[in-house]
Amino acid sequence: MIVVLLGPPGSGKGTQAKKIVVEKGWAHVSTGDMLRAAIKSGSDLGVQAKKFIDQGMLVPDGLVVSLIGERMKEEDCQRGFVLDGFPRNVAQAVVLDQMLKVVGQGVGQVVLFDIADESLVKRLSGRRTCSQCSAMYHIEAVQPRREGICDQCGSALVQRSDDQSEVILNRLKVYHQQTEPLIKFYRDQAKLVTLDAAKAADEVNRSLTRALG
Ligand code: AP5
Repeated sequence: MIVVLLGPPGSGKGTQAKKIVVEKGWAHVSTGDMLRAAIKSGSDLGVQAKKFIDQGMLVPDGLVVSLIGERMKEEDCQRGFVLDGFPRNVAQAVVLDQMLKVVGQGVGQVVLFDIADESLVKRLSGRRTCSQCSAMYHIEAVQPRREGICDQCGSALVQRSDDQSEVILNRLKVYHQQTEPLIKFYRDQAKLVTLDAAKAADEVNRSLTRALG
């Protein structure tokens, strides 16, 4: 099973992907996480990607597509995977279909996380992430036991460089302009299921589990 989680920044794709992959035994394929790892490693790809990410723009398709192509070949993806943050525009979706067709596969289901922009700004500006294990928190909704410290590994929590208010607004604009056309793309293929992402995380998880059967 190959599942695409589609939705605006902050809609909860990463939070839900982390849960569902454990429940289903699938791999979590997050282009955002891969790009941030590349930035942290100081690789050429990371240096190039950072310029776009810090402005809230999409990283050029060629860079992201080669990253995802390599990732999908890895052992843990062979039992199915959840795509979180990819595809991000119709061109990426077309390439994804082509890459999957070569190996006799295809996207099984696309889940749209539906939520208004106003809630997203609050979620993103309050998000804190562990600097080591990437566990996710929120200053109000998902607080760690000790302020600023990750419950799971004890490392410091940090704010993502693209979670500054100006960048958040640009990311939302980019989503509406470039990513939203994917809703029609997948609806026309009868692969789209929509869930109410404004609900509490546990409730969203139940809706997602139901949607995936
Ligand atoms: P990426 O990391 O993919 O960011 P995003 O899609 O903007 O999504 P986020 O990670 O910000 O949010 P999310 O929906 O995962 O929400 P989360 O669960 O974290 O991409 C970053 C950048 O990389 C892009 O801007 C782009 O530059 C580049 N990039 C990535 N993929 C690319 C591609 N394919 N092509 C080109 N460029 C690409 O939750 C957010 C917060 O809300 C957290 O604090 C969480 O605790 C909280 N929360 C979650 N669920 C709930 C809930 N139900 N109720 C209350 N709070 C909640």
